[in-house]
Amino acid sequence: MKELKPYLEANKQRFLDELLDLLRIPSVSADPKYAGDVRRMAEATAAHLRAAGADEVKIYETAGHPIVYGEKMLDPKAPTVLVYGHYDVQPADPLDLWDSPPFEPVVKKTKLHPQGAIFARGACDDKGQFFMHVKAFEAMMQHQALTCNVKFMIEGEEEVGSKNLEKFCKENKKLLSCDVVLISDTSVIDNNTPSLTVGLRGLCYMEVEVTGPNRDLHSGVYGGAVANPVNVLCQMIASLHDVKRRVTVEGFYDDVLKVSKKERTMMNAAPFDEKAYAQDLGIAEVMGEKGFTTIERTGIRPTLDVNGMWGGYIGEGAKTVLPSKAFAKISMRLVPDQDPEKIEKLFQKHFEKLAPKGVKVKVKPHHGGYPVVVPTDSVEYKAAEKAMEQAYGKKPLPQRGGGSIPIVAMFDQVLKAKSVLMGFGLDSDDIHSPNEHYGLFNYYKGIETIPYFYRYYADMKKK
Ligand code: BES
Ligand code: MN
Ligand code: MN
Repeated sequence: MKELKPYLEANKQRFLDELLDLLRIPSVSADPKYAGDVRRMAEATAAHLRAAGADEVKIYETAGHPIVYGEKMLDPKAPTVLVYGHYDVQPADPLDLWDSPPFEPVVKKTKLHPQGAIFARGACDDKGQFFMHVKAFEAMMQHQALTCNVKFMIEGEEEVGSKNLEKFCKENKKLLSCDVVLISDTSVIDNNTPSLTVGLRGLCYMEVEVTGPNRDLHSGVYGGAVANPVNVLCQMIASLHDVKRRVTVEGFYDDVLKVSKKERTMMNAAPFDEKAYAQDLGIAEVMGEKGFTTIERTGIRPTLDVNGMWGGYIGEGAKTVLPSKAFAKISMRLVPDQDPEKIEKLFQKHFEKLAPKGVKVKVKPHHGGYPVVVPTDSVEYKAAEKAMEQAYGKKPLPQRGGGSIPIVAMFDQVLKAKSVLMGFGLDSDDIHSPNEHYGLFNYYKGIETIPYFYRYYADMKKK
């Protein structure tokens, strides 16, 4: 908003310094070793909410990491925005692939971020993004410019599947009641092409274990006579895709909704340079399901990927061994109307059937989540569209994101509220990878855009 501009400009350096301090806290949710840091991060988040002007700031305990809550209730007649984000981050390893230590943030210029980007684990996912909301809120409070009631719910377990948040939401429906959920944890197409995320893929994550002989064997003495579980697992995994690179799990595509020609044409009209995409990744060409473009393959098609596999000897040099066991972690990205619980059962059945008699297999589920589509004809979408248009000077394009935020579908079901997925990262910001970064342009643009959303949303809800 115009009246906020001088404040945002004058406080730029402090906004940056405060974020850098948060990035120094290694709030890795997956590793119990960091539990103390995760808590420290929750406390720092709560302190920032308080300082920005939130009331009822509280750290809610769960069976896992805590949830930070805060609110500003202006007027019972005003619409209520629930801001959701996560203060936890992915593990930083492999550490040796970072150009600077993951929890010692530095600002450096890059080709896509000529004004500089903050390099640190969590810079984009999601500390830099949720903190934009705290700073935008601070600015609105300082100018009596807040037009909606606002509730913040910042959790510490998104990167491990939001196990305890669902229970918290079910038990605190009243506390969390709202008209819309506002989330910045996704990407824009590029800094000249603003976009709003209108879809998230679901997830079904499995781990498999294949056991052959009851102990490791000499690969010469026994080799050729008994099934090698690593060889067998490779074959089983290879058979999970056919020549068209479709997933062969029986029934996998049964519930996939057909996307209309019109929508596919629209998706493919978004700017996308496949050559530059491949070049950036250092690959000679892209690869995926036949009959679909890259945008479609990541936006509207389900997938199956091995995230890691191990077994046998992986130390220095060579050791001849026929291992007893082999393992793999396999994830499936899902699209509407696939159901992660149903897919889990289909995968289990299929995988068990694939195994030859000479091995035993165990299939174990990890976390999952439902896919999401966001309607583009709602008041909240229109308000977000107007907010971005105001800040970027261009109307944002709707874009389906390939990633997952499992809790979003639950907001729909439990809180009966639609989400606005207004993220400001770039797909190339290396979230979950070494050298994760977040552009300063993106950070400040987000802080500028958010207050517009509050204003337009309140205006449009009145009508
Ligand atoms: N913020 C991401 C999801 C995301 C990123 C969506 C970019 C769209 C564009 C989120 O933190 C994430 O990483 N989610 C996980 C799922 C979770 C259960 C570990 C994912 O997508 O792998
Ligand atoms: Mn995230
Ligand atoms: Mn993430």
